[in-house]
Amino acid sequence: MNIKPLNVLGAEVSNVDLKALSGRNSVQEIQDAIDKYKVLFFRDQNLDGDELTNLAKEFGPPFVQPALSEKYQDLLVIETNSEKPPYLNTFHQDMTGLEEPPALFFLEGVIIPDSGGDTIWSCNETAYESLSTSMKEFLNTLNCKHSLLYYYEPIFSKWEHGQEKKLEFQKDFPPISHPLVRTHPHTGKKCLFVNKFFTESVEGLKEDESKALLSFLYGVIEKPEFCVRLKWESGTIAVWDNRCTSHYAVADYYPETRRLQRAAVAGEKVS
Ligand SMILES: [Fe+2]
Repeated sequence: MNIKPLNVLGAEVSNVDLKALSGRNSVQEIQDAIDKYKVLFFRDQNLDGDELTNLAKEFGPPFVQPALSEKYQDLLVIETNSEKPPYLNTFHQDMTGLEEPPALFFLEGVIIPDSGGDTIWSCNETAYESLSTSMKEFLNTLNCKHSLLYYYEPIFSKWEHGQEKKLEFQKDFPPISHPLVRTHPHTGKKCLFVNKFFTESVEGLKEDESKALLSFLYGVIEKPEFCVRLKWESGTIAVWDNRCTSHYAVADYYPETRRLQRAAVAGEKVS
């Protein structure tokens, strides 16, 4: 297995066949690389849906997305086309409105537009490290309110069964409090843990203070210096740690079709 580091995060991994990982050593080697580089890119893998979910299961129990489609499933097919334009062009972390947000994602390109459709990841750990000691000390004292409905409510209003889903979410997924700075369970490193999709507010601050602080932090997270960008090909698999990175799907390929498939690994309580 060859690993070529890219920017402050990200590495291109070659000389490995993800269909045939040879035992625990290879899984541990990849897990170590995820911990170190946070995002890994593997080219020419071409796994089918079952192979992709089986691969993810080597790294931990599956995370089942509760809402992106109207069905519960552990393989998520993400397709945008002329009738379903891309819309996720905002930096975010996934599903942080849950008590235990997903830890890892395995995303594979299936149909890739001739041009455009890249994904960008940013490093929430480097973003945190770039701040002054005084700011870090202040942030370490804070918690934020995260909510799934904060993001999903406008989406549910467009779904046939959206009202049902909204009621289910109100009951099953009430807002949750997470530390603004979380500590990675494997590396012990700290990172910013806020995102535009699910972070409603900073607890204990006035509304305008909370908005200004979050807006400042998003500006830091989104600095190009803290990012890496992937040009997809069919068969490319990106693996990333959702705890300490944010991602952005560049929506610049409409009306072309882009299809990806995704499996995910469950995470732990944020601390
Ligand atoms: Fe996402």
